Amino acid sequence: MTTWNLQGTTSHLLICNGSSCKKHKGEEVAEAIEDEIEKQGAQSLIHTTVTRCNGRCSDACVVISYPEGVWYKEITPKSAKALVRKHLQGERLKDNVLYAYEDGKLAAASESGAKGKKKK
Ligand code: FES
Repeated sequence: MTTWNLQGTTSHLLICNGSSCKKHKGEEVAEAIEDEIEKQGAQSLIHTTVTRCNGRCSDACVVISYPEGVWYKEITPKSAKALVRKHLQGERLKDNVLYAYEDGKLAAASESGAKGKKKK
């Protein structure tokens, strides 16, 4: 088992590779994220973990970003690369946000404006 030095890491991407997400190219999504992190020279900033099912199979492929606590849906290998680039700019891949923390609680993007815009 590998032991990573996480000092200096700014974020953690959890990439679902449960069976439903694998059917929706979850392994390719993980590979695309790793490739883009390397391309952007961000290996020391973004840590990734491939997970089992996160309980949102109908939204496959799911990627979760911490510490901001954003759950992304329907990530493809192409959008995975965009997600990494947006993430490094401190932005979200708005069209794929499923849930995000609002006032300390996860809120559905469609209900809360969690796509990056605060409700007024
Ligand atoms: S397999 Fe990914 S959310 Fe269930």
